[in-house]
Amino acid sequence: MKTKILNALETQRGRYVSGEELADSLGVTRAAVWKSIESLRKEGHRIKATTNKGYMLESESDVLTAKGISSHLKEGSKVSRVICLGEVDSTNNYAKKLAMNGEPHGTLIAANRQTAGRGRRGHSFESPAGTGLYMSLILRPETEAGKFQMITVADAVAVCLAVEELYPEARGNIGIKWVNDVYFRGKKICGILTEAVTGFESGEIESVITGIGINVSTKKFGAETSEIAGAIFADDEIRFGRDELCARVADYVMEFAEDLDNPAIIQVYRERSILTGREISYMKGERKCFGHVEGIDDKGGLIVRNDEGINETLRSGEVFMVRAMEARS
Ligand code: BTN
Repeated sequence: MKTKILNALETQRGRYVSGEELADSLGVTRAAVWKSIESLRKEGHRIKATTNKGYMLESESDVLTAKGISSHLKEGSKVSRVICLGEVDSTNNYAKKLAMNGEPHGTLIAANRQTAGRGRRGHSFESPAGTGLYMSLILRPETEAGKFQMITVADAVAVCLAVEELYPEARGNIGIKWVNDVYFRGKKICGILTEAVTGFESGEIESVITGIGINVSTKKFGAETSEIAGAIFADDEIRFGRDELCARVADYVMEFAEDLDNPAIIQVYRERSILTGREISYMKGERKCFGHVEGIDDKGGLIVRNDEGINETLRSGEVFMVRAMEARS
């Protein structure tokens, strides 16, 4: 019942819902509603109670729980189990340990805070409490190893679609910077780290851990990170909870993982690609190259017209946006 009350308040976030209305719709007494509200408050949910008005889930209220996440998963969700941690070194590390012990496809690990969040190429990923969403999924896709890059592509698409659904104002302002960063209003709001778990004896990839970190309302970055990192919500007002965002992203990832060849994935990726048509720089061994981004190929590769006028496709690595002047000089 607590979950139902929380969901009812969630759909009216920032607005009052009368106790009577809640009691009637759930077929319980108003006293029972009050008891559940008290219990939700103890869990950390910020719920205002005002005589003659009822109850209101405050806009800043945002508690990440396994129950909350599960309640937002779609019917028939492919997420098989939800684990929610208050604090962990890294959800990817945690997921990896579980996967090595045989945890099945579809297990989701979410955390309120990471003490040693990891990014690509050995970077760390700042993961403060309460304002970001840090999640990893264990996948055991029946696909060739060559297609695993598509998981990262699918993750980026999943994040864009989930944010746009929950926050329609984001449409047109959210985009993907190849290969796996999601940008919102010109700043990075999400990073993705996909890692393979190889069987000790078989030497084969037995599972894939795909980790997604999203800055929902973070303002607590160190100076270096705040240069490039942003958050979905720039002000204090949260329009949706992290548990709902987590569930939507996880549902999309699981759906896409079923069929990584689904052309809809790459289509959305292309539509959201912020590099297409832009000048970029990238490293080829020791050499710094410049190029013009022509588009994204069917496997998620970046098609670049290089400084010799030849098209080449980048499959991995980091690229940087540059101004046309810089590229020509
Ligand atoms: C990057 O931008 O370089 C990738 C960042 C990936 C961060 C996520 S947060 C959840 C998961 N756990 C980690 O330690 N890293 C990923």
